[in-house]
Amino acid sequence: MLWWFIRQLILRTITPSKVVAMRILLTGGAGYIGTHIIVALAANGHQSIVVDDLSNSRHSAIDRVESIISAPVVFHHSDLRDTDRLLKIVEDTHPEAVIHLAGLKAVGQSVAEPALYYDTNINATLSLLKVMEATQIRRLIFSSSATVYGDPETLPLTESSRSGIGISSPYGWTKAMIEQILRDVAHTDPSWQFSLLRYFNPVGAHESGLIGEDPAGIPNNLMPYVAQVAAGRRNRVNVFGDDYDTIDGTGVRDYIHVMDLAQGHLAALNHLSPGVATYNLGTGQGTSVLQLISAFEQACGHPIPYQIAPRRPGDVAAMYCSPAKAGRDLNWQATHTILDACRDSWRWQSTNPDGYPA
Ligand code: NAD
Ligand code: UD1
Repeated sequence: MLWWFIRQLILRTITPSKVVAMRILLTGGAGYIGTHIIVALAANGHQSIVVDDLSNSRHSAIDRVESIISAPVVFHHSDLRDTDRLLKIVEDTHPEAVIHLAGLKAVGQSVAEPALYYDTNINATLSLLKVMEATQIRRLIFSSSATVYGDPETLPLTESSRSGIGISSPYGWTKAMIEQILRDVAHTDPSWQFSLLRYFNPVGAHESGLIGEDPAGIPNNLMPYVAQVAAGRRNRVNVFGDDYDTIDGTGVRDYIHVMDLAQGHLAALNHLSPGVATYNLGTGQGTSVLQLISAFEQACGHPIPYQIAPRRPGDVAAMYCSPAKAGRDLNWQATHTILDACRDSWRWQSTNPDGYPA
């Protein structure tokens, strides 16, 4: 503990004067993206307080983060919807800003169990807002998603592209609804400072290989599935459709390295201001399924078996953003390539074939 205080003092001395070290509450901070954000926050002298119910993560992920940053992370095992408990945590820990990641994110499950998704994602957010209101914390960064754009009319997607129409899953609707709730709340009281970050497709892992994406069961998303095929845990990748109007007929997405995404949160934190600001966090580059498989083959050094399968219902042909607004307003841009992401994902997968220890 003493070392932690000494380190904080050193960091405060060497951190550029514009950046003030803060205490940040991360809801859902034990998950894939949250753990990477804690590392980026610590590198800039900020201290993280995590509230997570571990419904889709393990405490051992926090242990790994602590070993990367050589400092303790304050952790509270709690459901965000337990408002009394959350209030007590916030009163005890005094965060100055919140990064709100907690929620359920499996698209297919949300179609099967919509009420669970609306209850968890919406009520967790309302509980958090009540506690922030009561404790006069006014700064919040929200994990939104490119899914709010539905089926894109034109590419690249900008923040003013049509959103909140034609969304293909209850999960996606919860993101659009939470965005609207935050806009409405900001409208009633101009002291709120909200940043809505629309993530494109987060991939990769911290370069240490100690933390990464650890999906429960069969991965729904492409990159973790490819990584498990590369590791021999699954036989082959099913490529969902090869007859789209894209470069090689397979689906195109904007894959963003999770550490670039984490840096985007730091940039958003440093630029919070009254009202609501919305940003696309992506690279601006589209990559097809076959291009991603090819990059992963380069990263792992052996061929990855795949077969063409029918299109997945609800999928769009291509989705990528213009990250220009984040570049202009936040002075942020992605720096990692898709090959970097594949290499880091492979390091994590090959050194942790079964994910985090129980
Ligand atoms: P994740 O599942 O790894 O992390 C979410 C964390 O929230 C988990 O640790 C889970 O245990 C926790 N949680 C869930 N319900 C909770 C509750 N009621 N109370 C407290 N904790 C709760 O997911 P992730 O990939 O790290 O995503 C983080 C956020 O970013 C989510 O809101 C997700 O919807 C959003 N997002 C993710 C992606 C992606 O592809 N990973 C893309 C766009 C947006
Ligand atoms: C999916 C979700 C989206 C969510 C995002 C989180 C759907 C319809 N969309 O987006 O709401 O915000 O995850 O990251 O589920 N693919 C294969 N084989 C696979 C898996 C995927 O070919 O085994 C293809 C898909 O058809 C798509 C691309 O790979 O073209 C990326 O898929 P995925 O990683 O699931 O992300 P999204 O579909 O963009």
